[in-house]
Amino acid sequence: MLHIIDHPLIKTKLNMMRDENTDHKQFKQLLDEIASLMTYEVFKDLKVVNKGTIKTPTNCEIDKLRLEKDIIIVPILRAGIGMSNGVANMLPAARIGHIGLYRDEKTLKPVEYFCKMPTVDNPLVLICDPMLATGGSASEAISILKEKGYKDIRLLCLVGVKEGVDKVLSTHPETEIYLASLDEKLNDKGYILPGLGDAGDRIFGTL
Ligand code: PRP
Ligand code: URA
Repeated sequence: MLHIIDHPLIKTKLNMMRDENTDHKQFKQLLDEIASLMTYEVFKDLKVVNKGTIKTPTNCEIDKLRLEKDIIIVPILRAGIGMSNGVANMLPAARIGHIGLYRDEKTLKPVEYFCKMPTVDNPLVLICDPMLATGGSASEAISILKEKGYKDIRLLCLVGVKEGVDKVLSTHPETEIYLASLDEKLNDKGYILPGLGDAGDRIFGTL
């Protein structure tokens, strides 16, 4: 269920993001680009269906092809916003839901403060969040969506650790998880090592 998307463009862009000297403008731009590149891989198994015909300028009639399922992109606020734009650039027709969670600094447990989802019949939902650390936030987001009736849920993160992957898969074993890198470990404050620091602060320049 774990897919590590290994590509030279993603690897080198992620390495630039890890650099402490990369400022918020470059950081946001790189995350945006990586998210678009990862989207290609995340959706490579989607079914395409025939919805009638179209005519080409060369007077040929061919099948009108569309994705079988509607897609909802769900960033976990705040840092997930930094990925959802890149995904949405590849899928302009996708709808966007939002889940607001923050990690309590002492307990590291997720606290929900917002949830707004579009109403779509049987969609594929892609949760976005750059960091999969303890896995508490991602697991909670999946639980919230399941309670609302969503069934087909994938998780797109940039950097994760085994602990976070294990937490998500122990709670939601059917979830496909996509990462650009599986990092070494968490430090005693729950930060990923080597990681890239506080993703939300680096995206929004709130350091
Ligand atoms: C970060 C990150 C994840 C969460 C990951 O969010 O964007 O949502 O921590 O940690 P976990 O796997 O241990 O739950 P944070 O709480 O810092 O909020 P922010 O995005 O608003 O900065
Ligand atoms: N959240 C972050 O933003 N960074 C980490 O390393 C862990 C959680």
